[in-house]
Amino acid sequence: MEKSHKILRVGHRGAKGYAPENTLASFRKALEQRVEIFELDVRLCRSGELVVLHDDTVERTTDGSGAAADLTLAQLKKLDAGHGEKIPTLEEVLELTAGKCGVNIELKGEATEKPVAGIIARSVAEGVWTYGHFLVSSFDHEKLRQIRELDPRIRIAPLVVEIPKDFLDIARGLRAWSVHVAKENLNQENVQDFQRAGFKVFAYTANSASEIGRLKTLGVDGIVSDYPDRI
Ligand code: G3P
Ligand code: MG
Repeated sequence: MEKSHKILRVGHRGAKGYAPENTLASFRKALEQRVEIFELDVRLCRSGELVVLHDDTVERTTDGSGAAADLTLAQLKKLDAGHGEKIPTLEEVLELTAGKCGVNIELKGEATEKPVAGIIARSVAEGVWTYGHFLVSSFDHEKLRQIRELDPRIRIAPLVVEIPKDFLDIARGLRAWSVHVAKENLNQENVQDFQRAGFKVFAYTANSASEIGRLKTLGVDGIVSDYPDRI
């Protein structure tokens, strides 16, 4: 039986299935598809701005080469991230979105904790955004610990592929809002365990109707997809 609770549709790197990942075109697409949340990956570039880029290097997603950490924003902005799109800064994505949907910021690069906490606090202070619009996730749980110390109001989500034995303790220790787990490692029992402990459960990254259907049957709270309109 499918559970009837509303599942949060999370657009992966925007709507990666429809537009170049982590670009403004991709986030526009996710907004058009009326996702509740879209996900993006952040890292710092050489000139100190937070840029939205999944990999350490620009090779896979642009026509350039090198590590983002070694390139200035001006250098990164010269690259084609697909269909003429540019690598955006986190601030540019937030300007585009203007509180219209939630944003799941995944910390990929080093030293992203402070600037991300700062951007969230400034966005909320400006009035369009609330803390409820933001969710900060990472596979690096130490980064999340830093975020928790910097600002107790920020919602936090530890990411894992496989579920470690002490994952509930980790989530409790971080005072996490949700736990994000690779879809193939979720089952009825562990989804219920997390939910009973008070955590929302998000599954990533599900694209086919059968995968999405299975996760709905498990009663997860959120599904991350390259094709969020399929959820
Ligand atoms: O948040 C889910 C997903 O984005 C985590 O993996 O590699 O796509 O950033 P990755
Ligand atoms: Mg990600």
